[in-house]
Amino acid sequence: MKIEHFILGPERYQEYNSSLHSGAFTWSSPSNIALVKYWGKKENQIPENPSISFTLDACKTTTTLKYSKKESGADFSFEVFLDGEKKDEFKPKIETFFKRIELYLPFLRAYHFKIETSNTFPHSSGIASSASGMSALALCLMSMENQLLMSSEGGKPLNDGFFTEKASFLARLGSGSACRSIEGDVVVWGKHADIEGSSDLFGVKFPYTVHENFKNYNDTILLVDKGEKQVSSTVGHDLMYGHPFAQERFKQAHKHLSHMIDVLKRGDLKAFISLVESEALTLHAMMMSSMPYFILMKPSTLEIINKIWAFRNQTGSNLCFTLDAGANVHVLYPEKETEQVLEFIKNELVEYCQNGHYICDTIGFGANLLDEE
Ligand code: PMV
Repeated sequence: MKIEHFILGPERYQEYNSSLHSGAFTWSSPSNIALVKYWGKKENQIPENPSISFTLDACKTTTTLKYSKKESGADFSFEVFLDGEKKDEFKPKIETFFKRIELYLPFLRAYHFKIETSNTFPHSSGIASSASGMSALALCLMSMENQLLMSSEGGKPLNDGFFTEKASFLARLGSGSACRSIEGDVVVWGKHADIEGSSDLFGVKFPYTVHENFKNYNDTILLVDKGEKQVSSTVGHDLMYGHPFAQERFKQAHKHLSHMIDVLKRGDLKAFISLVESEALTLHAMMMSSMPYFILMKPSTLEIINKIWAFRNQTGSNLCFTLDAGANVHVLYPEKETEQVLEFIKNELVEYCQNGHYICDTIGFGANLLDEE
């Protein structure tokens, strides 16, 4: 698949109906948690290695995109609101996003947009909203493209497969991991020899069997540090340029993903734990061994990890942890163990969370169109 696939040819541009004046779409899109991590990218948001994630269910962004035809002006024109409050500080990121995607959505400069967004998780929780936020916005824009095409003379809607693929393709250009938040409970992004249909350009539903053991898998997010990210992911990915261990890390991610296919198929929880925890620690090891170097874990992160290991040793539980590029800990565990693990979290881990805060989530299935006008 080539990027040209996502550019409508000149004859198609003519089909955009200039009489479409205004309307709105609302999409809700989830966050996701990577099992094999994406860390390092080439130009145009192409990942250095493939990654795989569980889609979350409760941690979501809901975005309404209102559009109205502009009278004149060639600049992008938009306003952004978070929970009803105007957020001009979000504009540069969205402006960059628009610049990256306008080749694929040539109507962007012809409209004024009002982007109203809200998250189900607290903005200052340290949970990145870029994956859910960028995927929700990309989906609203795809709905708009669809509407433009449909309302033109003889226009047909985009087929569902293309709609989803292009939404993921666009979301990737907003934030890499956002392309894994469109469709599916387990999503792969990045070309991998053993995964049919996988692509560097967009995320795809994991195409093979996933064992019952992973059904309704839980992710309890322990909010250790709710502050601003110490290292933005843009800076983080850049640290992989010229990193002494980069090439080995990229190879390892390919191997880990091959192994993960088998683990998901067989429902091998012990092997899952080893892979997932090793991936989390490798991500942090990359940051610790880059130049400049960073430690993104806090003392509480390590306390929690040690407590999880002790609990696993004592009880034989299958809980494990993973980390994003920050101090918060995602505790992953099978549905069957919900009661036992939540009890453990309340008794032993909550004390390490800022203000005792944590969020319970499970695997979800992707984004939803909530409204259209
Ligand atoms: O999507 P970005 O550019 O914010 O990068 C996300 C990177 C990690 O969350 C650390 C790993 C991943 O694969 O999601």
